[in-house]
Amino acid sequence: MIRYYYRNMEIDKALSIIEEKDPVRFPHILGTFKQARLLAKYYSLDDKKCSVAAILHDYAKGENKSRLKEIITKYGDVNIIKYDEEIWHGEAGSILLKLELGITDKDILDAVRYHVTGHPDMNDYAKVVYIADYTEETRKHPGVDFCRYACYISLDVGVLSCSEGIYNYLNTLPKKKIHPYTQLTYEHFLAKVGRERYESIKSHYQGM
Ligand SMILES: [Fe+2]
Ligand SMILES: [Fe+2]
Repeated sequence: MIRYYYRNMEIDKALSIIEEKDPVRFPHILGTFKQARLLAKYYSLDDKKCSVAAILHDYAKGENKSRLKEIITKYGDVNIIKYDEEIWHGEAGSILLKLELGITDKDILDAVRYHVTGHPDMNDYAKVVYIADYTEETRKHPGVDFCRYACYISLDVGVLSCSEGIYNYLNTLPKKKIHPYTQLTYEHFLAKVGRERYESIKSHYQGM
């Protein structure tokens, strides 16, 4: 096992737990962690909180469907089970972090809970994890470079660009029932940023 020296025990511990639990997804986790730290620094947010939330955001991703369902049914918002199982790990992850690792920090738990669907009321920590998950260095999807640019205009513009990419992508898939938070997040941040301003940010980017 690699030993980590980020001069913070909680960050080191979170990295060790995830590397052992889910080695295949680890490059994505490291990328999300790095991106979250850059955003935390840029926006003067608590580095440890952003880092731990980013490292643990996919804590439940490797769990099988029946375990996720069981955890959510027992402790969480069962409404999410009506939607695609791909999105269950956010809700289940925040429950498991509390049960298995004893994490009680609401900012961390909410960031993990909302990293898949987004939420109109996301705070800055949840926004950082949501953006970092979508824009980290191993991501190759169309539009990701614009999102990497947009997230340094403001966290709201960053969330808007990512939610637009996610929402548009999901709409291309056949028979996907999109969770309402996905659409609400996009609509909320579009209204907050303003359609006209957002369009001018996009045309400025295209002209660069
Ligand atoms: Fe995820
Ligand atoms: Fe992720």
